[in-house]
Amino acid sequence: MHPLLSLSVFWLLPLALTLEEDSPLDSVPRRSVPYHQDNAHLFREEGVFNYSTMLLREDLNLLVLGAREAVYALDLKDISKKHASVKWEVTQKQEEECKNKGKDPETECKNYIRILHKTEDNRMYVCGTNAFDPECDYMSYTDGMLTLEKKAEDGKGKCPFDPFQRYTSIMFENNLYSATSMNFLGSEPVLMRSSPVSIRTEFKSSWLNEPNFISMTQMPESESSAEGDDDKVYVFFSETAVECDCYNKLVVSRVARVCKGDLGGQRTLQKKWTSFLKARMDCPVLESQLPYIIQDTYRWCDPQQRWKDCLFFAVFTPQSETSDLSAVCVYRVSDISRVFAEGKYKTPVPVETSFVKWVMYSGDVPFPRPGACIDNAAREKGITQTLDLPDRTLQFIKDRPLMDQAIQPIGEKPLLVRRGATFTRIIVNQVQAADGNKYHVMFVGTEKGTVLKAVNYEGEMFIIEEVQLFEPPEPIKIMKFSNVTGQLYAGSDEGVAQIPLATCERSLSCMDCVLARDPYCGWDKADRKCVFLSSAQRELIQSLKDGDANLCPDADPAKPVNESIWPGGNLKLRCTSPSNLAKTAWERDGSPLTPSARLQFLRDGLLILNASDSDTGRYRCLSVERSKSGKYTTAVAEYQVSMGPAGSGDGTLIFPRARVDGPSVAGYQVVIALLVVSLLALLAWNFYKGHIPLPWNCGKKTTEQSQNTHEQEDLNQHAPRSAFAEEKPLVLGTDNGRSNNNHTGGAAAFSAAEEHDDPTVTLPSLKYIDDESEI
Ligand SMILES: *[C@@H]1O[C@H](CO)[C@@H](O)[C@H](O)[C@H]1NC(C)=O
Ligand SMILES: *[C@@H]1O[C@H](CO)[C@@H](O)[C@H](O)[C@H]1NC(C)=O
Repeated sequence: MHPLLSLSVFWLLPLALTLEEDSPLDSVPRRSVPYHQDNAHLFREEGVFNYSTMLLREDLNLLVLGAREAVYALDLKDISKKHASVKWEVTQKQEEECKNKGKDPETECKNYIRILHKTEDNRMYVCGTNAFDPECDYMSYTDGMLTLEKKAEDGKGKCPFDPFQRYTSIMFENNLYSATSMNFLGSEPVLMRSSPVSIRTEFKSSWLNEPNFISMTQMPESESSAEGDDDKVYVFFSETAVECDCYNKLVVSRVARVCKGDLGGQRTLQKKWTSFLKARMDCPVLESQLPYIIQDTYRWCDPQQRWKDCLFFAVFTPQSETSDLSAVCVYRVSDISRVFAEGKYKTPVPVETSFVKWVMYSGDVPFPRPGACIDNAAREKGITQTLDLPDRTLQFIKDRPLMDQAIQPIGEKPLLVRRGATFTRIIVNQVQAADGNKYHVMFVGTEKGTVLKAVNYEGEMFIIEEVQLFEPPEPIKIMKFSNVTGQLYAGSDEGVAQIPLATCERSLSCMDCVLARDPYCGWDKADRKCVFLSSAQRELIQSLKDGDANLCPDADPAKPVNESIWPGGNLKLRCTSPSNLAKTAWERDGSPLTPSARLQFLRDGLLILNASDSDTGRYRCLSVERSKSGKYTTAVAEYQVSMGPAGSGDGTLIFPRARVDGPSVAGYQVVIALLVVSLLALLAWNFYKGHIPLPWNCGKKTTEQSQNTHEQEDLNQHAPRSAFAEEKPLVLGTDNGRSNNNHTGGAAAFSAAEEHDDPTVTLPSLKYIDDESEI
């Protein structure tokens, strides 16, 4: 497999380089944090799955968690502590009925908790799919116990029947707004408010056309509104475009909104929204023909500012399977609101007998404006509620809920586009950094169970880190942020994880702390620690925009570790850079080393083969990292290598060669014979398994000493796209994805780029090769 792979890598090289120049699509997170149970507080319960509904009860210090057939009350500060739980299982009879309707008893005919909201009397409203027969109930938390009241309310239209279908809901002033489908087949979509008067969407393809509901949020737009406007509820979803002039189905992303005070019409649109308006949302990702599809949104509002300054951050993924890009686009609420308040409408025009074309409506628009909330202008004309709206306005909106103009993101382009693990969820937090500026930090959950932390520094997208939360990798299905605990909560099918906004202690040196460019972290000179900004007493060293590590005091000289080698023996000196953006370089007794057949530079160390006297000396491993402000070099490890018996320290002696030229002893010969036999066996096995290409497949590689082929092979697994172009046969294309398990320590053990078999995955390495010439 790998000769082919490396071939294709060289083939793709020119193409990839041009891509690289155009956009930082392959942006590598500066730090990759492999899975470790200390990365996060974790919660999961044996035999329980699908932890995908969450409610923050900061008033009770609880994270209320909905899973399959169970609800948990976890300690908000440490979710591994469970305070209470309650089961909500389907009955035998319900399961039987569900099964008789053709659903799978093991998966679909269970009760998946889908809705959890706080009510104004401090209880909770909870709904579950309940074996394809959704049901809702009230739940309270008293005396450390969760109790369901067994009210058995009908959940139709509130909660999906199908646990695999996407849905969304919010509770606003004790009224539940839900977007889901309200029939068994999942074919009747609805956006509805259940109380005080139940209002819903018209069942018409121009209103909702095979939608996939994503999220919902409210906006307090009545607040000091000069027009006497009403509060709104926004719904994000994707759906099949009715307006598309195309033969194939085209899915587009949408935002729709309704007014909180809507009571429906008197005759037309009775008990239906009179204020349902929707618009297309664009997130133009370069090189893509088909629109990207919205997957999650996060409403970010500055508490000091008005609602108009709120932002929606949204995650998008491609519509076609052929691309593995994901994107984040940001929208101003004011831009969305303006399109609904002032924009033109689209109107259907029949062209042929069965074909309808949607074009911009340019005729007269009735008063009050169709889809507008009741405002002062309407009140002046005696229209004080939607029931008073004239038929002309209602008929107009019934036929034309779609706006002509699409909503564009800020800057008309995505804030972040990245190849690799598909984005699933997003949370955004704002932090005031040491420079006094405020930064939006994005936490993006992925299909691979990781969370990316990224900041846009004046147009430059910088991925601070990627942390693996779940092992084996599980898609992140939900993320929440509590501004009370300052913690993020992420749920997957297999468990829940809680992480802080930053783990500054991961940086052990000032240089690493500064080059990490994490707005939450700074270097405390006095304590010699990388610390969380807001917990710091003193002024900290931080340089977010430039990564200027010249501000750092001189580092302590590293204490060398003693290592020994034998003549002809092999030795590995370990060295892992804290940064994926750094290259490592080695020097011996002060002069730089160049890699050769005997001195191999690996991603996690230096391999000395067939040692001789000249290999002794003082070795230093340097990590060289570039930032905007310069090139920084730090000594990451230091070794004193001498000839002699087996060493101590953490360097590893590899495969010491038997001393063939020593005093001839029969014992040695036996050992050698055994070694040779086992080596041959190993070799044969490796050829058989295809771990080593046969000589006629890849001549270059087999010129390596056959004696340590096996070790070599093993080490190659550790050496994916590391920094050295000279090593091509060793480095490129040999990583077949097994490397993840083998890494030790804080090594950059995974990176999204390594997670696929796709030949394009080695693209990030090209950046290094490119850089090589600059050094
Ligand atoms: C629930 O979790 C299981 C186990 O991970 C998974 O196979 C299944 O697809 C999940 N079901 C839903 C509805 O998400
Ligand atoms: C947390 O956010 C809410 C609004 O979402 C706000 O009312 C509250 O003041 C915030 N609390 C803190 C501690 O920042």
